[in-house]
Amino acid sequence: MSVPVVAIDGPSASGKGVVAQRVAQSLGFNYLESGALYRLVVLAGPDDPERTAASLAVEFRGDRILLSGQDVTEALREEAVGVRASDVAQRPGVRQALLRRQREFRRAPGLVAEGRDMGSVVFPDASLKVFLTASAAVRAQRRYKQLIDKGIDANLHALSRDLVQRDERDAARAVAPLAPAPDALQLDTTGQTVDEVVGVILGWCRERKLGGRPA
Ligand code: DC
Repeated sequence: MSVPVVAIDGPSASGKGVVAQRVAQSLGFNYLESGALYRLVVLAGPDDPERTAASLAVEFRGDRILLSGQDVTEALREEAVGVRASDVAQRPGVRQALLRRQREFRRAPGLVAEGRDMGSVVFPDASLKVFLTASAAVRAQRRYKQLIDKGIDANLHALSRDLVQRDERDAARAVAPLAPAPDALQLDTTGQTVDEVVGVILGWCRERKLGGRPA
């Protein structure tokens, strides 16, 4: 039997990251933040992104991300890096180079993978596919709070504009655009807490007998 995958996709700041981590923890599964790979390409060598994507020396160590041995966790989270990652992610050669790398995360007892195309392209045979949405206003608020809490200066209006632009570009690109897989379950998180969203997804996992640890 193949290793089960839970795919969680959605636009920027839809809450995928925190939700996917919590689901992975509850199930005892491995976790893949695929957006980090696109962001790493930007940090590692944006001049030749295809080549960089094929040769990334990255290590996920707990909640830290190392690039060629250097801790880049904070630098990776910068909004400007996300915007440039969305640009680099339009390139078919970059996406192709990152495919195998993403699939290597599929290890027993299971994987929770989050991004834009986990259910549609990278893990089309996922046992459960979830597509998270939330209004653009709520997503901009969440991202704003995240940045301010980290002590990073932010402007709500500019953030909101950048989010919408990034969504449009991610959804309009020719290869693996941001879109729910036909068999994805959609969940609008606009008025919901993280606990509520995690609860709904874990319910769907139980229905599919995912993550049941032996008694
Ligand atoms: O999830 P994130 O904000 O860290 O992702 C940054 C960019 O990377 C996003 O705007 C588009 C791209 N991306 C992608 O194309 N496919 C993925 N599976 C994940 C991210």
